[in-house]
Amino acid sequence: MNMNTVQQYIEQHKERFLSELLELLKIPSISADSAHKDDVKRAAHFVAEKLSSAGAEQVQVHETKGHPIVYGERILDEALPTILVYGHYDVQPAAPLELWETPAFEPHIRATEIHPQGAIFARGAADDKGQFYMHLKAFEAMMATGELPCNVKFMIEGEEEVGSDNLSDFCKANQTLLKTDVILISDTSIIANDTPSITVGLRGMSYVEVEVTGPNKDLHSGVYGGAVANPINALCEMIASLKDKNGHITIPHFYDKVAVVSKQERAEMAKAPFDLENYKLDLGIDDVNGELGYTTSERTSIRPTLDVNGIWGGYTGEGSKTVLPSKAYAKISMRLVPHQDSQSITQLFEQHFKSIAPKGIQVQVRPHHGGEPVVTPTDTVEYLAAHKAMEKTFGKAPIPVRGGGSIPIVALFEQVLGAKSVLMGFGLNSDVIHSPNENYGLFNFYKGIETIPYFYHYYRALKSDK
Ligand code: BES
Ligand code: MN
Ligand code: MN
Repeated sequence: MNMNTVQQYIEQHKERFLSELLELLKIPSISADSAHKDDVKRAAHFVAEKLSSAGAEQVQVHETKGHPIVYGERILDEALPTILVYGHYDVQPAAPLELWETPAFEPHIRATEIHPQGAIFARGAADDKGQFYMHLKAFEAMMATGELPCNVKFMIEGEEEVGSDNLSDFCKANQTLLKTDVILISDTSIIANDTPSITVGLRGMSYVEVEVTGPNKDLHSGVYGGAVANPINALCEMIASLKDKNGHITIPHFYDKVAVVSKQERAEMAKAPFDLENYKLDLGIDDVNGELGYTTSERTSIRPTLDVNGIWGGYTGEGSKTVLPSKAYAKISMRLVPHQDSQSITQLFEQHFKSIAPKGIQVQVRPHHGGEPVVTPTDTVEYLAAHKAMEKTFGKAPIPVRGGGSIPIVALFEQVLGAKSVLMGFGLNSDVIHSPNENYGLFNFYKGIETIPYFYHYYRALKSDK
């Protein structure tokens, strides 16, 4: 494989690559919001068209019960290794809109302290449009120069941010179409632009919504207050009791299946650079806060969590209204680690949460999407290929790091497609994905496009050595 011609092609076309990405970022493909269904579809067709023009075949926008899945492939020779590229073109909602310095769907480029060469500010810039688009452009460059070394299949979905419900059915129904040796994903981050890393773990997820009911109607808080359980007070007490003073989750059997990480492994992990003072400074907090006995890096990777994501009920309008509300609600997520499984944890939560309801309170628990945790081995050909590719383009060996986020479909890929995933992401934690002013460094976008062809190159070479 002649890498020079590929890299030259990238250099010559980099301005266009960027302007195409900016076009994609203008489409508000918010999967959670049904008002944006047509935008999500528009984004799918945009991706399909760019796949075709880059040289993919069998390009199709597969409709699902939810949002479409875009597929395309280039099969050179059945005897060559196949790489399946997965990504998502859907994005999180942009709210709160007023906190964006420039509008979420009007991408702007500006320099920041972390990105002196400029960063793209837009919802989806890093998660995941800017990242999966690197794969389309790397593919285009390899195709245009006649240097594609492996078969490639693309599967870019539109429901990752809402739990990938229909993607699992799609995978199960299309096992032959999706047959692959490895799955390559850029939807995670590196430690810093001068400290490359490869994500070797993702946490799983249980997500529930709880509805707490007191009296059958809203009541006057003077006439009834003091005699009838207030569901908001009750919900707060119940939530507060879910953790003890050491930051331990109190749900019985919650930790039963949590894999114990050995001292050696923890010592190994502690070698990854982490600056606690900067971390606090960046977040404007005077101290971190989490489970006793674990470092911040451990708390966000090898340990499970429980967090309230949203809570509401009663009167929140202007001024004051004296009301003892009938209902209160909360959305609660639990991040899971090996070998917890989301169904059992959701059940444990439900049982426990119902059992701690005070007198006069009824509780309903509605499970939302879940996903299983994954840890990927580092002694595989695919890991080594990613390692060599990053080492080549960053000039430094990448560090394996277990990530705190979740990509629920990854565990399922292994089950259904029998292939391992490589999480070769190029974002930074400071990209503030899901938050206002999400951004993605131009350095990172171009570094990704530069690195991906090397992955193909090393993967093919290492596979044929075997
Ligand atoms: N790309 C993220 C996951 C991620 C972010 C992994 C940073 C590692 C580092 C993904 O799009 C995401 O946001 N996933 C959701 C899960 C989902 C079920 C909504 C998450 O982690 O909250
Ligand atoms: Mn993502
Ligand atoms: Mn996301």
